[in-house]
Amino acid sequence: MTTWTQDELKAQVGQAALQYVVPGELVGVGTGSTVNKFIDALASMKDRIPGAVSSSEASTARLQALGIPVFDCNAVGELAVYIDGADEIDAGGCMIKGGGAALTREKIVAAQSRRFVCIADESKLVAVLGRFPLPVEVIPMAAQRIAREFAVLGGTARLRLKDGQPLVTDNGQHILDVTGLQISNPLRFESEVNQWPGVVTVGVFAHQRASLCLLGTATGVRTMEFGD
Ligand code: A5P
Repeated sequence: MTTWTQDELKAQVGQAALQYVVPGELVGVGTGSTVNKFIDALASMKDRIPGAVSSSEASTARLQALGIPVFDCNAVGELAVYIDGADEIDAGGCMIKGGGAALTREKIVAAQSRRFVCIADESKLVAVLGRFPLPVEVIPMAAQRIAREFAVLGGTARLRLKDGQPLVTDNGQHILDVTGLQISNPLRFESEVNQWPGVVTVGVFAHQRASLCLLGTATGVRTMEFGD
């Protein structure tokens, strides 16, 4: 058995995801280090697709640097497939996302896509979501009240900082990272937190769960099917 580094596992699933890109159609592109591997691999088939819809400024820059045109969500219709990583994924295809602060645009592009192909190394597979601090994008004036709501659920919310200042997302908002949660019913949890005033996006992806996951493991890429 070969011992792969995490970086090599990410490259393998990024490459494997190319089989789900539909020639002649736009592809939805997520954000993160695993997706960066996918974007690099996508350059090899850029002449067979019209371009991509991107979930972040970072992915847009990487796509464009490789000569892949990027289209605005509002300029296109439904996408055949959205390809993105995850911070955690459970056995039902529900995920925690947002470690890269791009969760809101990721959820928008995922919602506009027929299939969500998750690409992840095996460290991301968990029995119950919540070990990874849950990212929640919030309107800044509501941050403390939302933190108190999470405390009632047993969570501890911390404002994400960058260079000592609150991190500002691509949408001009802030991120709370919430520890201490055990999210055993992701669909219900996502629906509930979505109702709280000031929550822009909760990083549980249950309504937009994965259709399938390409999981990088020591014995090769494992495909987990969850249904569309
Ligand atoms: C970005 O906001 C996230 O949702 C990423 O998809 C997630 O953090 C996975 O990133 P890596 O591929 O870098 O682990």
